[in-house]
Amino acid sequence: MTIIRRDPDAPHCPPIERERELIHVDCASHTYPDGSVGIHDMCFFVQKNEIVALCGPNGSGKSTLIEHLNGLLIPSKGEIWVNGRSILSGERTDLWKEVGVVFQRSDDQLFAPTVLDDVMFGPLNMGMPADEAKAAAMEALGAVGAADLVHKLPNYLSGGQKRLVSIAGILAMKPKVIALDEPTSDLDPVHSEMIERLILNLKTMHGISVVIATHDLDLAARVADRICLVRNGSVFAEGEPQEIFYDSDLITEAGLKIPDTVQTYLDYCKTWGVAPELRPVRRDDLIAALLGVPR
Ligand SMILES: Nc1ncnc2c1ncn2[C@@H]1O[C@H](COP(=O)(O)OP(=O)(O)OP(=O)(O)O)[C@@H](O)[C@H]1O
Ligand SMILES: [Mg+2]
Repeated sequence: MTIIRRDPDAPHCPPIERERELIHVDCASHTYPDGSVGIHDMCFFVQKNEIVALCGPNGSGKSTLIEHLNGLLIPSKGEIWVNGRSILSGERTDLWKEVGVVFQRSDDQLFAPTVLDDVMFGPLNMGMPADEAKAAAMEALGAVGAADLVHKLPNYLSGGQKRLVSIAGILAMKPKVIALDEPTSDLDPVHSEMIERLILNLKTMHGISVVIATHDLDLAARVADRICLVRNGSVFAEGEPQEIFYDSDLITEAGLKIPDTVQTYLDYCKTWGVAPELRPVRRDDLIAALLGVPR
């Protein structure tokens, strides 16, 4: 896969691939009531069994795009297809079963009297009997490392705890795609690592595709199969982490900074006068590259 560049002045989305794609966003635009442009001619897709990272500066449109994926926002122009069905077709009442969204602000997500009620809400709403819904909720809380919060009041949780409970609430429903907006912001390093492992497990163990919007480019480099660079409301370049993060002009153009792992390798190569051929993006690959161990 090479880097795909999109010209914002001549937007052109590839045709939908129904066999492989779970989500297809075709030149979608959204303008908020106050006239702010949230997304503009956005082209984006999510395939089966992949992790996609949306990376871009503040205000570039990542959250706005994510809020379109489960029908919370509707594009003012363009089309969005989820599992082959248009979200504009009027049949989108059950979209939340297919695409789960964990919002950037957890306060937007939690509303039930206790954590258990909150995490059980989705499974109950999907028609699961109460005992199964409770088991699904407990399993999801365990997976995010928040089983001890089960009887707490969501209002009194810390920011990080609210985020964990929000993720559990979506996980308990096992949708086909989970979109996580800034999944590790507010989290301590232990819980961040837990969420990182969970993101990988969603794909490898549960076959769930994951979209993350993140400012943590090292996290994106470690977990994502594909990086989409977002600027001014649209994806302007996309590709594998090894390609995107080793294109320093592109990263500068995106208004971002090269991930630490990549920068360390580039500094090492510069210091020793060697070509940066191996392109490690994860720490273990970096160590292997520095030691000259074949991978
Ligand atoms: N509810 C809203 N009403 C008006 N404008 C909004 C609203 N939400 C977002 N915007 C605007 O839409 C644009 C895209 O915002 P969005 O929140 O999608 O960016 P983002 O990439 O998620 O940024 P961040 O990295 O800061 O989370 C911004 O200009 C923002 O000010
Ligand atoms: Mg955002």
